[in-house]
Amino acid sequence: METENNPSAKPSQHEKPEILLATRNKHKTREIQTMLGEGVLVTDATQHEHLPEIEETGTTFEENSKLKAEGISLHVSGIVLADDSGLEVDALGKEPGVYSARYAGPGCTDEENTALVLKRMKGFPDEVRTARFRCVLAVAENGVTLATFDGTVEGILAHEVRGVGGFGYDPIFMPIGYKESFGELSSEIKHSMSHRSRALAQFREWWASRG
Ligand code: IMP
Repeated sequence: METENNPSAKPSQHEKPEILLATRNKHKTREIQTMLGEGVLVTDATQHEHLPEIEETGTTFEENSKLKAEGISLHVSGIVLADDSGLEVDALGKEPGVYSARYAGPGCTDEENTALVLKRMKGFPDEVRTARFRCVLAVAENGVTLATFDGTVEGILAHEVRGVGGFGYDPIFMPIGYKESFGELSSEIKHSMSHRSRALAQFREWWASRG
């Protein structure tokens, strides 16, 4: 298998199957690699330098994940997987939503985004701090989306940053049934219920059914 031009192709007997993720977000790559296990090699756009940056101009997670999967799949052979995800806070009209990565402005950090959500939610009691993480995975080949998969995890927002694990908004998100945030819980617990693992479970089934 040629890594550069033929990701996600059927491997020969002794090679692992490879999945190219249309992302430069190493946290996503790491989580998806962990969840898919050692039997699969997950690569991303940082390892394929000829791949273009895809602008996320959609207004929904689904639109953006399709844009990324389709856009990147035009430059490689085989299937490409894209993840568009983010946090929806009910009291903020489902913001930051598709703007989760850039909520505090272009080039902002996870810490700045998290601080802005906490600032906008200051003084709100627990009953109205409901939120969810959503992840839409799209799989595409030759510029055409073959399938999409949607995963959600419900929770409430903490009143302050809690823990240092995970990434993005993990330190302010407490999944239903837990008093700890994803920043405090182990990655095993996060992966047992996360939006990404729920979407990925559907992708795995789809992938297996292709033979
Ligand atoms: P995207 O690259 O446009 O899909 O933006 C994803 C953004 O949503 C990330 O940069 C994080 O801010 C947030 N996000 C997505 N998934 C997670 C997660 O599992 N934990 C915490 N934040 C997440």
